[in-house]
Amino acid sequence: MTTTDELYRPGLEGIIAGETAICTVEQGGLQYRGYDIAELAEQASFEECAYLLLLGELPTAAELLRFRNELNGFRALPGVVLDTVAAIPAGVPGMDVLRSTVSLVAHFDPITGDDRAARRARATRLLAVIPGLVAARLRLQAGQPLVEPEAGLSHAAQFWWQAFGRRPTELEERIINLTLILYAEHEFNASTFAARVCMSTLSDLYSATVAAIGTLKGPLHGGANEETAKLFQQFDSAEAAEQWVRGALARREKIMGFGHRVYREGDHRARILERFIEPLGREREATGHVAAYFAIKDAVWNAKRIHMNLDYPCGMVYLLLGLPLDVYTPLFVASRVSGWCAHAIEQVENNRLIRPRSRYIGPPKRKFVPLAQR
Ligand code: SDX
Repeated sequence: MTTTDELYRPGLEGIIAGETAICTVEQGGLQYRGYDIAELAEQASFEECAYLLLLGELPTAAELLRFRNELNGFRALPGVVLDTVAAIPAGVPGMDVLRSTVSLVAHFDPITGDDRAARRARATRLLAVIPGLVAARLRLQAGQPLVEPEAGLSHAAQFWWQAFGRRPTELEERIINLTLILYAEHEFNASTFAARVCMSTLSDLYSATVAAIGTLKGPLHGGANEETAKLFQQFDSAEAAEQWVRGALARREKIMGFGHRVYREGDHRARILERFIEPLGREREATGHVAAYFAIKDAVWNAKRIHMNLDYPCGMVYLLLGLPLDVYTPLFVASRVSGWCAHAIEQVENNRLIRPRSRYIGPPKRKFVPLAQR
């Protein structure tokens, strides 16, 4: 029965479900703790952004050095965790491997206590171990030896070093750093909200992160960047791509990498990342894929007036960088764990159990029927 004060929106669309000081997502701009994403993307390291999200201020040089040392101090993975990464059957999706191994890493938590300092330390540990888990899976799946973390590398370069056994070029490092910044935080998106719901029961940061990983896996959310790359690989001409889009839309299929629940005038992050596609496409001699990229984008706009979201250019950029498909969304996790932890800590420090109501649409009240009469 609907009462006058009921407020119901499918998917909680447009509903304010809480307050945050971490991020604003508006048609006019995206800010992390008041700093515009375009300035952070242009001038910051991912470590500075993660520090900003977790502690509320950009670090001084001394604070940044200490934070980087803390990250390095947490990068080593317990042997039994690495053995498990190796034992998980080939073909298990990288997001499922992360969901399991982040949960396993939690059992070897060296941090004691449950105050703000302990939570922030656990957040730093999660930031440190997740890229290492992704890189280890990549190496083990390829039958290659593990690469130990090396102090002195940036967070972006550290991933590349452990994943590919070589330091990234300047452009590779710059782009990985940029995608880590762009994916780091986005207000009450589905996976962040899952983390907040989990933390609102006074659970723990590892459990909140595992809940968020499971949520991000879905192609309507984080999994879209892998799907967009699969799309580009199908075409090496604009014409073929356009034809496919027309067919897909006629079948009322969703085109991965397009649309957004909040952004109706375009995703600020996507425009920032897109600038790298043409220079990278020329450098990697992939002009066919790049032509397909712009053809699909134009065809979707002409047919449905829908903007791309960050996953669309990201799928192209990671494809041009030669990253294996199965690390795209795990890299999203390596970045967004900073936002998840910031929100989880914010939630628990000003907590109210998150427990909405539902509108009942089932059978009316009825009498029990004994088994013999059914
Ligand atoms: C992320 O929330 C966040 O901030 C998320 C994120 C973050 O940083 O955390 O930004 C990351 O999740 C980006 C989104 C990645 N997912 C995709 O790219 C998957 C494809 N996109 C869609 O499934 C969809 O756009 C959503 C899920 C992203 C948003 O869906 P909504 O808000 O529920 O919108 P809708 O499905 O109700 O669509 C409204 C209309 C419909 O048309 P009609 O049926 O009314 O004619 O727009 C159409 C939809 O058919 N539409 C699309 C489309 N997205 C919307 N049509 C074709 N292709 C699409 N991608």
